[in-house]
Parts: sequence; C-alpha cells; structure tokens
Amino acid sequence: MNILIKDAKNHVDKEITIRGWMYNRRGSGKIYFLQLRDGTGFIQGIVTSQESGETAMKIAEQLTMESSVKVTGIITKHPKQEDTFELQVRGIEIVQLCIEEYPISKKEHGPDFLLDNRHLWLRSGKQWAIQKVRDVVIQAIYDFYHQNGFIKVDTPILTPNACEGSTTLFEIDYFDEGTMFLSQSGQLYLEAAIMAVGRGFDFGPTFRAEKSKTKRHLTEFWMMDAEAAFVEHEESMEIQENMMCFIVERCLTHCQKELKILERDIEPLKKIKAPFTRLTYTEAIKKLNEMGSDIKHGEDLGNDDEGLLTQDSNVPVFVHKWPRAIKPFYMKVDPENPELVLNDDLIGTEGAGELIGGSQREDDYETLKTAIDKEGLNGPEYQWYLDLRKYGSVPHSGFGLGLERTVGWICGVQHIRETIPFPRMINRNRP
Ligand code: 4AD
Ligand code: MG
Repeated sequence: MNILIKDAKNHVDKEITIRGWMYNRRGSGKIYFLQLRDGTGFIQGIVTSQESGETAMKIAEQLTMESSVKVTGIITKHPKQEDTFELQVRGIEIVQLCIEEYPISKKEHGPDFLLDNRHLWLRSGKQWAIQKVRDVVIQAIYDFYHQNGFIKVDTPILTPNACEGSTTLFEIDYFDEGTMFLSQSGQLYLEAAIMAVGRGFDFGPTFRAEKSKTKRHLTEFWMMDAEAAFVEHEESMEIQENMMCFIVERCLTHCQKELKILERDIEPLKKIKAPFTRLTYTEAIKKLNEMGSDIKHGEDLGNDDEGLLTQDSNVPVFVHKWPRAIKPFYMKVDPENPELVLNDDLIGTEGAGELIGGSQREDDYETLKTAIDKEGLNGPEYQWYLDLRKYGSVPHSGFGLGLERTVGWICGVQHIRETIPFPRMINRNRP
C-alpha cells in the first residue's frame, strides 16, 4: 500500500510503500540510512543485507542524491525519539537515478547560487518548511475571514488606474486601449464589491515597480486586501489584530515541525496576543526622537525606525493617524484634525517591519474628488470609484496584508525572497 510520510504513525508494524526522493544517504557496506522525503515529510529508511536483502542493498549502494524512488518496508517507532518513525526497508525501486551530481549539497552555498537554482533549492528542508508555513498562513486567512462574515471576491490584476501612486506601476501595452497596469492592490475594486457583499477579501499577486533593494521588497508579491462596510478606523484595527493572532496561533499549532526545521525560537510568537500597542504617528515620531532617531514629523518611517519602535515590544505596534500629505488619496481625513488621515500601519516584532497597511476610506464625494484631482489622477478611471460615494456611501475601512512579510516574520527568515517560491526583484527575474 502506498502511504504518505506524514501518515506513517498510522501504519506502525505494517508493510507499506513510500514514493519520493532520496535527499541524503549515510552508512556504507553493512548498513545504509536513506533520508527519504515525499513532500509531506521526512523519514529514515534503514537498509541491511539481513533485513532488506542483497538486491535492496545493491540499489541502496548505487543511489545518488535526489534520485526518485519507491521504497517498501515496515514502519517502526524510532527507539529514542518521540513521534519519529523509521522505515525498515524490504525493497527499493528506482524511478529515476540521477546520473549527474546534484548541484546543491550539504556544504554552504552563496545566496546567488541558491537563487539561480531556486527550482532545486525549493527541495531543501528549510525551503520546504517555509512553503508549508506559507500554505498554513493562507488557509488561516481564509478561515479567519469566513468565520467573520467576509467572503472572497477576486479583483483584477490588469487595471487602468493606480491605487498606490503612479511611481511604482508596471505598464502593459493593451491592444487598442492603450496603457494598462499590473495591480498594486485590489483595494479600489474591493471597495466597490463590498457595497454588494458587505465584507470581502481578495488574495492575489500584486506588483510594484519598486526601486528598493531591501530585504522586504519584491516586485511581485501576494497581498490579502480586506474591506468592510460600516467598519470604522478603531474596529478595523481590532480586525487586523485578531487576524494576526489567529494566523500566529494557527502556525504554532499546525507548524511545530516546520518551525523546528527553521530553528525558529517560538517563544516570541507565543506572546503575540491582542491588544497590540497603538501609537499615533505623532507619538511614534516623539518616541523615535527620544530614542535617538533623527526622523522629522512628516517623514515616512524607515527600516531602522520600525525596528526601534518595536524593539521593546512583545506585540506588533500600530502606528496610526499619519499626515495626510504623505498618504494616498483614498484615506479618510481625520475629523479631529484635517492634516491627518484615519490610517494605520502594523509593524511586526523582531524587526519584521510593516506587515499591514490600512485605513478608513474617504466616503465623502467632494472631499475624495478634490483629493483625486490633487494627485492628478482625475478622469474616467476614477469616476466609477467616485460613484461609490454617490450611491449609498457608507463609512468603510480596509487594509492589505503582505503575505511574504508575514510568512517571513513567522518563520524568522531574514530576507522575504525565501518566502515566495520564485522571487521577483529588480535584479532577479529567473528562474
Ligand atoms: O501598505 P500598502 O502599500 O497598502 C496598500 O496597497 C493598500 N491599498 C492595502 C489596502 O488597504 N487594501 O501594502 C500593503 C502591504 C504592506 O503592509 C506590506 O506588508 C506589503 O503589502 N508590501 C510589500 N511586500 C513585499 N514587497 C513589496 N514591494 C511590498 N509593498 C507592500
Ligand atoms: Mg504601506
């Protein structure tokens, strides 16, 4: 019977077959330990002449790294390690024997070499673990929203307008219609959709022609935008913190093995509990200046500032109510101070940087129209967006979560390029 390695515990003392790859081999002559993987987990196969037979022994001797195999044997409990199983091999069938030496070995490789070989690097234990965590985070997001009355609404990738400013747009020549852009965020379309469905979220690739070469910038990344009618600034932040806690909690229960492979210290993650710290932008600048940063009121937070703001905090920090002048046109003006907008950036702990950007949306037609004109964005591409303020406008809020930054934070990886299967950055577009 074919089984998946993850189910080995259900087949103790039974003869089964595992179909996968041999990622490493130890031993020689009398005994071989085959390190096998099948995508669902890892298991050690033990080969000896007495137990496995001469044929299996010969094949084990021949096997090269990353050869694909079907290995039959009996599952046993590891004599010492709790919750670990082994395979007492009875037979090995080679599916394909690697003739050429596998390029990625146990020795240290530089990041460029690994990224050039990303199609193979993905098979390594840590990279495998990151993709598993990514999958769990995605599923947690879906579950959180469905439990909270949001439905998934897909937003377009090809758009005739800009959501997040015109300087980071990828342009596309679109038949006779002229220029279109790759979406920077589904937000504007999601705002239209929630006037139909009340609460919605999207999840998809987004694109920024960003010149930034930091550890947190990709040119193609996955964003989850959420939007809700009748939800205002404070409630929006509560939804964000509840979602983050839900995601972290899910990873702590479902990804114990993966986080171990990643050597992630999970103690800081266990402390991620609501409420998160809330600082107004003005308070944050004051705090940063006191901590020695030379940031001035009216400037965007840099990497170092984000690190400083969270360095003594067990929980992520909301920086909210930013100066209107440095934020996009769609954010709602703070009724208490027309220089500010009702927005928030959520900064992750342990130097993770901004994980979420969100705001209440301007719901007044005239105020929004003036803001759009001021950014030089007027024209038919924004008329439909303005229409939403003509027909049953309601207070509403939303936010976007960067998937790679969130996964990077949970996994404790330094550069978010490892959290997406095939990263796209200004200087890397292959494989
Ligand atoms: O803060 P941003 O630019 O917000 C928006 O796009 C809003 N329209 C979202 C909304 O309100 N629906 O982007 C949201 C998040 C950031 O907080 C960050 O986590 C991530 O997307 N992000 C990036 N991740 C990787 N590479 C980049 N170049 C990123 N730019 C933003
Ligand atoms: Mg932002």
